Amino acid sequence: MCGIAGYIGKNEAAPVLLESLKKLEYRGYDSAGLAVIDKNNKINSIKVNGRINLLEKELRKNDPLKGSIGISHTRWATHGEPSKKNAHPHSDCEENIWVAHNGIIENYKILKEQLEKEGHQFKSDTDTEVISHLIEKYFKKNGQNLEKAVRQALEKIEGAYGLAIIARDEPDKIIAVRKGSPLIIGLGQDEYFIASDPSAIIGYTKQVIYLDDEEMAIIKKDGFKVVGFDNIEKEKISQETEWDVKQIQKSGFSHFMLKEIFEEPEAIKNSIRGRLIPEDGLAKLGGLESVTEKLKEINRLIIVACGTARYAGLVGEYMIEEYAGIPVEVDMGSEFRYRKPIIDKKTAVLAISQSGETADTLAALREAKRKGALTLGITNVVGSTQSRETEAGVYNHVGPEIAVGSTKAFISQLTVLALLAIYLGRQREMSLITGRRIGQELQKLPDLAEKILKQDQQIKNLAKKYSKFKNFFFLGRKYNLGIAEEGAIKLKEIAYYIHAESYPGGEMKHGPIALIDENLPSLFIVPSDSVYEKMINAIEETKARKGKIIAIATEGNEEIKKIADDVIYIPKTLEMLTPILSVIPLHLFSAYMGLELGCDIDKPRNLAKSVTVE
Ligand code: AGP
Repeated sequence: MCGIAGYIGKNEAAPVLLESLKKLEYRGYDSAGLAVIDKNNKINSIKVNGRINLLEKELRKNDPLKGSIGISHTRWATHGEPSKKNAHPHSDCEENIWVAHNGIIENYKILKEQLEKEGHQFKSDTDTEVISHLIEKYFKKNGQNLEKAVRQALEKIEGAYGLAIIARDEPDKIIAVRKGSPLIIGLGQDEYFIASDPSAIIGYTKQVIYLDDEEMAIIKKDGFKVVGFDNIEKEKISQETEWDVKQIQKSGFSHFMLKEIFEEPEAIKNSIRGRLIPEDGLAKLGGLESVTEKLKEINRLIIVACGTARYAGLVGEYMIEEYAGIPVEVDMGSEFRYRKPIIDKKTAVLAISQSGETADTLAALREAKRKGALTLGITNVVGSTQSRETEAGVYNHVGPEIAVGSTKAFISQLTVLALLAIYLGRQREMSLITGRRIGQELQKLPDLAEKILKQDQQIKNLAKKYSKFKNFFFLGRKYNLGIAEEGAIKLKEIAYYIHAESYPGGEMKHGPIALIDENLPSLFIVPSDSVYEKMINAIEETKARKGKIIAIATEGNEEIKKIADDVIYIPKTLEMLTPILSVIPLHLFSAYMGLELGCDIDKPRNLAKSVTVE
């Protein structure tokens, strides 16, 4: 979704703004722009409908905008089509006040009508433009005080926003505001950076300040202050981000998605590092220490998440129910708060989100908190909204995930859920031996995952063979049901000319089988586990209707070759851990299918990495 960057300091702003926007590209966008204050205090702006390289070209054409204060933006259209006129930053009538915005202004229609009646002239179809005109109105009314005018404008607007604001008439500052949409300040040597997330600025500084909701930062070249919407000054402590520049480079891979899939063994390693006490069969999750006693008391767990993260939750449901004996429900972040969730003090709600900024998941979390649940989180982004709003949680520690399709973070979410099953299980009935066994098997997974990646070429060939098909089924059961879901979502997001659906193996005969013929291949996840025979029935039924079969099966299973058209093998592990291996070929399959079809596998059309609007 939209990305914001800002710069104020001793250097030229435009190159920094451009570089920062490039790092934010992964969030998904359709247009981009920037605005810089020059030495005569005039604000110059360039906007494009398209990619950052177009913006870069335009910048070169126009002789780079000079000036050391500026803001920039990548837009993912919500109100108004992707176009130059709708690209940010947006200005007021007099081109004095310029605003870059991430989020949605819910009452923009009423505000726009009022402002138009008062004579304001709008140039775009966006909700954002009302902010610049509102600030203009109060700026004129209150004797030209930008900070005060921004605060007055904020009183009128409803919705979610991260804002970066500059003004010709107060050319010494940037005002950054956060309510609902993430925004950070990077602290450099006599310079400050503003960004939607740390990846945009880690090339310049690793010291960041995370703005909290309803905070406003007034940043000048020689310092900054942060105040609440109530105008009370806040003390903010900077943190060092653990991400480094190498992690946001492709390092020899053609695409971030491929790089991140090949980082999956490392992701498992990083997720378990220091978190197992093998001799005691225990998992040590430092982030949960503060709530250890409360966790002993819970008798129900609700997992809330969206998309891929929710499919990790579906696997977690089976792990935790089987090994910790706690009833688990998995809900979509987007649905949870619109039903009447039954929650009491013994219910824990666990949010899973790679970004920690998914608006739907955060909304579910806040509803759970309001109802008195113990709130927990699993996220990859240190300092993210989710990590700050949950009572306790576990980080994935897999480094920034740049490709829009979540891969290594998903593997890590599964690994952390397995650790959580040990953690909660050992607080209850789980034996030392079982705890030890799971721990031992978990430690073997990175090597086993490497082994799967060695079949890279075979999976590439498979993608070539199947790339002409327009529809696919993904089938799994029990632990691998969530993996079937993940396989299907990944294929349709990444190879976006293909339609894919997933079903539990046992549901085929209740409807979907009607669609089977030689033009609809089915990918069965069929490891040698407790539901193997049942899955074989579903394969036979599909085969009998001329359906093509690709099977993900356990090494040593030669039988499967007799019924499947193609087989990809995964090494043997505990049943509960098979999803951590079985998903790897599916991630590769979707990446190679995407490449076969000429899709931009890092930035699939219409999608955003971090979905910060509801
Ligand atoms: C993943 O491949 C998808 N792009 C998407 O479903 C994603 O998992 C979802 O939007 C949730 O994101 P989060 O993990 O950052 O909360």
